[in-house]
Amino acid sequence: MCGIVGAVAQRNITPVLIEGLKRLEYRGYDSCGVALHVDGHLARSRSTSRVADLETQIQETGLQGFTGIAHTRWATHGAPATKNAHPHFSPSSEDARIALVHNGIIENHDELRAELTGLGYVFQSQTDTEVIAHLIDHMYTGDLFDTVQQAVKRLHGAYAIAVFCREEPHRVVAARQGSPLIVGLGKGENFVASDAMALAGTTDQIIYLEEGDVVDLQLARYWIVDVEGRPAEREVKTVHAHTGAAELGPYRHYMQKEIFEQPRVVGDTLEGVTGIMPELFGDQAFRVFKEIDRVLILACGTSYYAGLTAKYWIESVAKLPVNVEIASEYRYRDSVPHPSTLVVTISQSGETADTLAALKHARSLGMTNTLTICNVSTSAMVRECKLAYITRAGVEVGVASTKAFTTQLAALFLLTLTLAQVNGRLTDEQEAHYLKQMRHLPVALSSVLALEPQVIAWAEEFARKENALFLGRGIHYPIALEGALKLKEISYIHAEAYPAGELKHGPLALVTEEMPVVTIAPNDALLEKLKSNMQEVRARGGQLYVFADVDTHITSGEGLHVIRLPEHYGLLSPILHVAALQLLAYHTALARGTDVDKPRNLAKSVTVE
Ligand code: M6R
Repeated sequence: MCGIVGAVAQRNITPVLIEGLKRLEYRGYDSCGVALHVDGHLARSRSTSRVADLETQIQETGLQGFTGIAHTRWATHGAPATKNAHPHFSPSSEDARIALVHNGIIENHDELRAELTGLGYVFQSQTDTEVIAHLIDHMYTGDLFDTVQQAVKRLHGAYAIAVFCREEPHRVVAARQGSPLIVGLGKGENFVASDAMALAGTTDQIIYLEEGDVVDLQLARYWIVDVEGRPAEREVKTVHAHTGAAELGPYRHYMQKEIFEQPRVVGDTLEGVTGIMPELFGDQAFRVFKEIDRVLILACGTSYYAGLTAKYWIESVAKLPVNVEIASEYRYRDSVPHPSTLVVTISQSGETADTLAALKHARSLGMTNTLTICNVSTSAMVRECKLAYITRAGVEVGVASTKAFTTQLAALFLLTLTLAQVNGRLTDEQEAHYLKQMRHLPVALSSVLALEPQVIAWAEEFARKENALFLGRGIHYPIALEGALKLKEISYIHAEAYPAGELKHGPLALVTEEMPVVTIAPNDALLEKLKSNMQEVRARGGQLYVFADVDTHITSGEGLHVIRLPEHYGLLSPILHVAALQLLAYHTALARGTDVDKPRNLAKSVTVE
């Protein structure tokens, strides 16, 4: 989603800004731009193409400057178009005094637009952002830091902004409320960005701004005030952010690479787990786990499906009641809080606006025992939660989450065992059994990935379809949901998932010879029930594509295609079955020729509501 980079320095800062934008590219965007202070005036370059094209555009025009801001935009207000791309100028392009970039959504933009139009400002974009630029220009006192502090008081909604002014060439001012923003400290130069990763290779001295902070960045100093305008001390952290996305190597897409990295990263996530120890989740974990008697999981998208899977695990092994909520719904609904709840957020990025807001909402209801399962140790989610388990998926570039999901599942299974142990529900034998299974996961996953050639053959068929149904039962129902999400995200085939027992209550009406029905058939207690559900599909001419464990005695026949998974993996079976579904989605998308790593309309990190 939108990304910000800004700098004040004594050297041409364009390469740092472009490099920062490239590092943020994986989050998804539809346009980008850079603005610089150039010889007493403001200049900018914007594009609806890739950052690499913006870079060429800038090289061709020879745009250079010591102070500047840059942005990748993911459209919310106004189409992806050059006029809507950031940075925005005020009062006008020709006579620009203020340049500004913004992440987030300004909810009172209509009201501000009307007011500023009345004052003579002419809007050149359809964005909510342009109102902030004009507001700052209108309120400008000769001191940008002071002006921004006053101006942000007029904004309702979420924002991270970076702004500079023609009259103050060696200054960038930035502010945040509801959207992440960090400051990077250099020697005689300072930076601002929406993510520490944008500054990897430039500085590792990072300050995470807090809600309501406004920062004044100059060459050799910086100054932060809090939401009340009081001077604020913020810790400077040494952050070794990843230096960007890894090379593709032999793979065609990051998604394919990330699917095949799963054996290693699941192993990495569980590395060092030699026994079940609450401290793996943080110093206070034992006390917190003792205090709680129920679990509330908050997440979005794929992370939500990880939460749904964990509900089956925790309720069956640790015997604690679990409620799983879609974060964007939970934050706005009246729910019944209970102080002895463990609130678990699950997030790859750790910056998802809805999940962060849901977490804060849960806390405001008195549920202060919070834990996150997150892939980014420096993220807002980790900073906001009392306890954390950091998955070690590494940077996930593909918008469709794959390795983040399986590492989340690995961490959630570990949480299940830990809660069970603290509650006296885990015998030594069970602990040893599950630990052995967890250690074997990388090998088991590799054997599933070796089925790729068989999946490719199916994908050729799927590529010609416009609809698909996914069926699972029990703990594999969330995996069916995830399989359907993967297929729709990257191949744009309409896909829905049902618990197989629900078929006859409605969706069976959709089944014809044209309908592929993907079925997850583990060799578990529900297998015979599932076989009956499969008969219901066959009787209506539906085409079954079954991922069956060994020994299920399901064999290929007319209208029944079977790929056999090498072993049944008990409670951890979802981690294996989902890898097969990821391959199916990937190869179907490949056959349809879609942009696998950057599917239309989607962003990697959803930092707006
Ligand atoms: O970073 P998060 O895990 O909080 O992101 C949540 C969802 O936006 C994310 O899982 C999304 O659904 C993915 N595109 C799924 O592939």
